[in-house]
Amino acid sequence: MQILITGGTGFIGQALLRYWSAAGHELTVLSRRPQSNRAQCHYVQSLNDVPPGRAPQAVVNLAGASLAGKRWSARYKTELVDSRVQGTRVLTAWMRSLPVPPAVLLSASAIGYYGARGSEALDESSAAGSGFSSDLCSAWESEALAAGEAGTRVCLVRLGVVLDAGGGAFTEMARPFKLGIASWPGSGHQCLSWVHRNDVVAAMDFLLHHEALAGAVNVTAPQPVTQRRFCTAMRKQFTSLPGMPVPAVVMRLMLGEMADELLLTGQCVHPQRLEEAGFHWQHPDIDSALLAILAPHAGDKLP
Ligand SMILES: NC(=O)c1ccc[n+]([C@@H]2O[C@H](COP(=O)([O-])OP(=O)(O)OC[C@H]3O[C@@H](n4cnc5c(N)ncnc54)[C@H](OP(=O)(O)O)[C@@H]3O)[C@@H](O)[C@H]2O)c1
Repeated sequence: MQILITGGTGFIGQALLRYWSAAGHELTVLSRRPQSNRAQCHYVQSLNDVPPGRAPQAVVNLAGASLAGKRWSARYKTELVDSRVQGTRVLTAWMRSLPVPPAVLLSASAIGYYGARGSEALDESSAAGSGFSSDLCSAWESEALAAGEAGTRVCLVRLGVVLDAGGGAFTEMARPFKLGIASWPGSGHQCLSWVHRNDVVAAMDFLLHHEALAGAVNVTAPQPVTQRRFCTAMRKQFTSLPGMPVPAVVMRLMLGEMADELLLTGQCVHPQRLEEAGFHWQHPDIDSALLAILAPHAGDKLP
């Protein structure tokens, strides 16, 4: 299959490229930076440069400035929004202009769509929340849905916190534990809706082929944990002192608005639609996921 991926150079994109190259798909990656082409992987810096012979049957939209990359200043918020909303608008307009529009668009979104909701149980039928990340996800998803006007099946992939070695949130989360300090943000009772990166790759592949699935799909593990439970699971992997909280006031001083939205309130998200469709998680529980991340030769494998 011909698949076009935006943001394919990132943490999730790289894992997808490895998996889909091995599966024999022809991949085109839209990147802002010049890249060397590899077997089965062709890079372009503009959609106008996609050769006619590489017109995609499927598009995966991952591009966007990193949400946790910098403090959310007014200027950085504009970059976070523009890189997703404008980028997706340009992408879907291009898709609609193709002689044969792609059959499917898997467009990344985030569980931030639901806003900071504490311990409330959330699934795909839950309404959008409030706050910057919720507004951002709603606007991003609206742009993605425009691809449906040309008959493309659109999946809005609401990702939880994606865990794996070598990037993403886990690198930051593991830092204190590597120093022997176990900690959690705020009360520790807030819910962390996480997912192992291999399960994200498997879910993307599942959505690619499952023609009955369209609209919002939560891509999280079926067993979210509290921040304190995550700390306990990490302590099984690292030798560390007994856990202690990083007070909310310190988190807010360090991270500003991002602290409340991403870390201190939490979201308890359930992957209802993937479960109903019969998706199988390689890492449904946090202990298995952390073991695979920290002891990668302990039998873990890509889906
Ligand atoms: N990882 C997670 O835990 C998580 C959770 C929820 C949602 N998501 C969403 O899923 C998507 C992929 O996540 P990821 O972790 O793979 O992200 P990532 O590693 O930060 O990669 C995203 C890619 O987007 C491109 N990009 C970065 N800044 C950009 C900008 N200002 N304008 C346009 N493109 C830009 C970059 O590609 P080039 O430099 O090649 O252009 C980058 O490789 C993101 O949109 C993210 O918000 C991720």
